[in-house]
Amino acid sequence: MRVAVCPGSFDPVTNGHLDVFRRAATLADRVIVAVLINKTKSSLFSVDERMDMLREVVADLPNVEVDSFYGLLVDYCKEHGVQAIVKGLRAVSDFDYELQMAQMNYRLGKVETLFVSTNPLYSYLSSSLVKEVATHGGSVEGLVPDVVLERLHATLEQRR
Ligand code: PNS
Repeated sequence: MRVAVCPGSFDPVTNGHLDVFRRAATLADRVIVAVLINKTKSSLFSVDERMDMLREVVADLPNVEVDSFYGLLVDYCKEHGVQAIVKGLRAVSDFDYELQMAQMNYRLGKVETLFVSTNPLYSYLSSSLVKEVATHGGSVEGLVPDVVLERLHATLEQRR
């Protein structure tokens, strides 16, 4: 069985991420969307909230599941029988860092990284931009799944 992981912070998941999950789901028998537990980075949503939203948005993808991890991604891959890391590449600017991580992950754990080219509709999209635009009252409709849109508005409202 081919198992792939789509790792990330997903704070929150965007339609660009979702596009990558859908495409990974056609390449692997099983796809794990793994949320990094990062104790040093502040986030808008808790890991549990991010996982809840992810579970809702991948509910129609039977071979995709959601998990979280702490520590090195290669250790997670070893423990869960993951053969490939699947990442989206939005633009050339993503490439340098992604290549570094792919090479380090291969060195550390002999895990391959597969890059899918992000749908051009979402090539400028990031979780950080979504949060920034939404924080200042801009519309992010169509850029994130509806469930995320609702939670984003509710969370930002609470913080005001
Ligand atoms: O969505 P992000 O924050 O860009 O995702 C980055 C992520 C989670 C893929 C990356 O930081 C990661 O894999 N972190 C786990 C720790 C690790 O394995 N570091 C070495 C990477 S070569």
